[in-house]
Amino acid sequence: MATADEIGRAADILRAGGLVAFPTETVYGLGADAANADALRRLFAAKGRPADHPVIVHLADAAQLSEWVRTIPEAAAKLVAAFWPGPLTLIVPRAAGVLDAVTGGQETVGVRVPRHPVAHALLAAFGGGVAAPSANTFGHISATHAAHVRAEFDEATVPLVLDGDPPDIGVESTIVDVSGPRPTLLRPGGITPAQLAAVLGEPVAAPTASSPRAPGTLPRHYAPRTPLEIVPTEMLEARIRSLTDNGERVAVLFWSPKFMEYTPQTEVARDDANTGDSYSYARLLYTTLRSLDKVHASRILVEDVPEGDEWLAVRDRLRRAAQSS
Ligand code: TXA
Ligand code: MG
Repeated sequence: MATADEIGRAADILRAGGLVAFPTETVYGLGADAANADALRRLFAAKGRPADHPVIVHLADAAQLSEWVRTIPEAAAKLVAAFWPGPLTLIVPRAAGVLDAVTGGQETVGVRVPRHPVAHALLAAFGGGVAAPSANTFGHISATHAAHVRAEFDEATVPLVLDGDPPDIGVESTIVDVSGPRPTLLRPGGITPAQLAAVLGEPVAAPTASSPRAPGTLPRHYAPRTPLEIVPTEMLEARIRSLTDNGERVAVLFWSPKFMEYTPQTEVARDDANTGDSYSYARLLYTTLRSLDKVHASRILVEDVPEGDEWLAVRDRLRRAAQSS
């Protein structure tokens, strides 16, 4: 767990225009001073991220919103009251002074107040807005542990990675665009559409062609280096057998309790810590994918997950991880 000293050092690094990684309840963020154009350039360079992709501004408290947004739409106010601090990002009309590097040149800005104690302590100590994409190189798996961040960025690029309890959500925040006539779900995450609808009094719309761009929704994203294939439960054993009979070494991620006893004939690197609860599955997903990515398998087979709202974010990330380009 980060000490008060380290939090103070991290805030100093941000003030000097440097980069700091910090844990949140979703995934690690790679933070930079959102009001410093040089710091933002450094951030985009470190991630290898195209300059026109917007980043989320993280705040210690919803009271700071007025510095970043022009108006607070009614839907935004309802969602803020219900879900902040927490795993929800709102896309709202930007205030005049917000840098183009933050918004990707759009008229909106993404804002979030996280609830992880280390994230909160850092934001409170820094005092301003912290622009923070997930702390991974562009397109790769997001990081949920300090060691994952270190594996992605060296000390010259990111001098300080704050330690903290592992995330209680484990996948990125839910993103809702409340800048238009209807609240629109841009990215499923820790808060489900049913939870949003209950607070809004109307269902959230699906994105359309005119919705703001959200590159986290690029087809291939959140991907391991090893090719990943999603296989329906009832076809999984046959698929493993045909690949291993062919001399392939496969890694497998199960969730069905029925596979707990499964011992394949040939070598299969397995990761079956997940037993069918969508929340613990999400919490472990990126750690699991990172470990399966390291076992020198020719392919990662993932047992397809159930339909339904509570698996939506996991299903979305797995589908993107499985895209081959
Ligand atoms: O859980 C999270 O949201 C994590 C933690 C660190 O807060 N952050 C995160 O950031 O996932 P990133 O940059 O990896 O993904 C943010 C997504 C991107 O797809 C970006 O395009 C979208 O949010 N986004 C940010 N500002 C936006 C805006 N003004 N309009 C539309 N999309 C926006
Ligand atoms: Mg990301």
